[in-house]
Amino acid sequence: MAYNKAELSESSETCLRMNLAKPTESKKPWLTQGEEKRQAVQEMFGNIAPSYDRMNRLMTANLDRAWRRTAVRTIGVEPGEVALDLCCGTGDFISILELAGARVVGIDFCLPMLAIAKGKSQSPLSLGDACQLPLATASFDVVTVGWGIRNVPDIDRAHREIARVLKPGGRFVSIDMAIPRQPWIRAACGVFTGKVLPKVGALLSNREAYEYLPESAQRFMSREDLRASMEAAGFKAVKFRDFAFGNVCMHWGVKE
Ligand SMILES: C[S@@+](CC[C@H](N)C(=O)[O-])C[C@H]1O[C@@H](n2cnc3c(N)ncnc32)[C@H](O)[C@@H]1O
Repeated sequence: MAYNKAELSESSETCLRMNLAKPTESKKPWLTQGEEKRQAVQEMFGNIAPSYDRMNRLMTANLDRAWRRTAVRTIGVEPGEVALDLCCGTGDFISILELAGARVVGIDFCLPMLAIAKGKSQSPLSLGDACQLPLATASFDVVTVGWGIRNVPDIDRAHREIARVLKPGGRFVSIDMAIPRQPWIRAACGVFTGKVLPKVGALLSNREAYEYLPESAQRFMSREDLRASMEAAGFKAVKFRDFAFGNVCMHWGVKE
């Protein structure tokens, strides 16, 4: 189901109002699992949607855009191909896929994030959960996910859903946080993400959300486990590549 601009803006207000009820107030989002994690993550992104893009540019010194462009180049998106940007958030992957000439659908489970994406793109957007995609089997040539997989309560299931909606030979790329392999880089970056980032987040956005980033990265699958999860879901030729001294990692593969 695609939403028009008016519906999105009305629904986002409803979602924001619901978010204010804070159903998961008692537990930090990174300590939750299953349905509780789903709700906590949804609420968290609803709260930070207005400042999300600004924080991204600041945290990555604008490099996040270059990484997304590299991802789209890596999987070789061709004009006219049908692309799904899953966990599309405010739509930054969508605009790069559009520039590559793809016909794009964006899916996210957070209306306030989708409302911002709607202001940037004409591509259809839909509300949906990565673990249960409201999409037909074998309907996409490519799937992109930017900093989304780490937030999903059941990553194996999300990978299986991505494989399901891809055509045979379809390509998948995901960029997300990672833990640097070098101990001295890990220690130096740990100071930034653990101490500086939450303070900046508190000033410009939301402290808990920017505590969630390093905490969830620590609890996230390793590069090798992510590759294994993709392979188990039906991807072959799975590779990964680090960015930002190993703080960010891109995985990609081809559906068998
Ligand atoms: C860190 S943001 C990334 C947004 C965007 N992909 C980007 O590259 O900037 C993560 C997004 O994933 C969405 N998300 C998290 N879990 C999800 C799920 N289970 N199903 C759908 N979207 C989800 C959030 O709502 C949020 O918009």
